[in-house]
Amino acid sequence: MLAIAILAAGKGTRMKSSLPKVLQELSGITIIERVLNSCNSLKPNKTFIIVGHESMKIKEKLRHSQNLTFVNQIPQNGTGHAIQQLLPILENFQGELLVLNGDVPLLKENTIGNLIKKHRSSKADVSILSARILNPKGYGRVFSDNNGNVDKIIEDSDCTENELKNNLTNAGIYCFNWRKLKEVLPNLSDTNKQKEIYLTDAIQLLELSVHYETDDPEEVMGINDKWQLSICEEIHQKRLRVHWMKKGVKFINPPSSTISDKCIFGKDIVIEPNTHLRGEVLIGNNSHIGPNTLIENSSIGNNVFVIYSIVKNSIIGNNVEIGPYAHIRPESNIKNNCKIGNFVEVKKTKLDENSKVNHLSYLGDSEIGKNVNIGAGTITANYDGYKKHITSIGNNSNTGANSVLVAPINIGTNVTIGAGSTITKNVPNGSLGISRAKQLTKPNWSSKHNPNQ
Ligand code: UD1
Ligand code: MG
Repeated sequence: MLAIAILAAGKGTRMKSSLPKVLQELSGITIIERVLNSCNSLKPNKTFIIVGHESMKIKEKLRHSQNLTFVNQIPQNGTGHAIQQLLPILENFQGELLVLNGDVPLLKENTIGNLIKKHRSSKADVSILSARILNPKGYGRVFSDNNGNVDKIIEDSDCTENELKNNLTNAGIYCFNWRKLKEVLPNLSDTNKQKEIYLTDAIQLLELSVHYETDDPEEVMGINDKWQLSICEEIHQKRLRVHWMKKGVKFINPPSSTISDKCIFGKDIVIEPNTHLRGEVLIGNNSHIGPNTLIENSSIGNNVFVIYSIVKNSIIGNNVEIGPYAHIRPESNIKNNCKIGNFVEVKKTKLDENSKVNHLSYLGDSEIGKNVNIGAGTITANYDGYKKHITSIGNNSNTGANSVLVAPINIGTNVTIGAGSTITKNVPNGSLGISRAKQLTKPNWSSKHNPNQ
């Protein structure tokens, strides 16, 4: 029987934020969700989240996660006090209790598995995950003998100068024999610098404590402030990029780009500098993204070029060119062989195959057919001040430069719209739609009006 407790009640004062520490995001996913994901495969009988400070926000964020039991810790008197809250709930529990600090998001599933294995083979009362850290400031120090038996953990703030030299640190992840822990939990005290009840003090009260040392100190990094958050972000981003580079994605200047856990890449893809892919992003084969591009929750087809542009919540087909300086806003669907060029904004618009919007246009709430050429500066006037309206343009039509299409409006197939027109009435198939003042040319006008001539 395995129960898991994730500690997430603390104030996170050092984060200096109105958002609880465990709800800070690391590459788009909250710290607490990452901790939960790291023990996904363990299939525990029960998972407890200890909450206190801003508990409603944490419960709300995790409302879709299954089989979680929230336990309130009020007030928050330390990590030992947090686990004391489980005493009445786990009164008759007989198994192991895996405790995870809610602020250690980079742990690998495999490492937790190894800790549990070590715990089972050593038959210890507690097994502690430890790491040797180059600069261990802020971490509790683990004091063990040569056989790996742990005598005590001393918090950084309670260490003597000599004790601070020990760089074997406590990761804040422990596997306890619950029956043994529950005997000693009530005896923890708060006689320390921070006047808190430390879970780490249980070690001295238990008979056999061992530690499992990970050889990757990066994964046990705890996040207490924005600086540590940024370091973890860097580590995580590097892991993601290395993963995809090994699968064949080419990054030009990798550290300048960021990607999410939910990106999926095809073959022979190039990611140019300063490219940022957020949320669920799918990139097809032979596509070339960036430089200076942001793509969020979108699917990009094969052989697509996107340069200096933004694409959000949209679907882009194959052989499409986007940019420079294009903005594809949500719910757009750009089909194969289209081109969206310089300074073009597209919103909630379907552009069917082989159509082009090359320069300086706005297409909003539009349905554009196949083989359509949208002339430079064409604007769909989709908003009447109250409601949004639809513009539809049929196959093989062209709009002249600087046309304004006042929606709702229906432009048929094979239509030409004259340059500089403001079109307010539907234009049937095969017609020319033009609405501009006729040009008046007055010969010899300058000589009459210019006194110097
Ligand atoms: C803790 C450990 C330290 C270890 C480090 C690893 C203790 C006493 N110290 O220190 O040995 O090296 O983690 O990152 O355990 N929390 C509660 N209730 C509370 C206080 C804290 O649920 O009353 C939660 C916090 O929300 C956080 C976790 O426990 O998720 C750890 O608390 P934190 O204050 O960050 O402890 P550290 O000082 O980092
Ligand atoms: Mg911490």
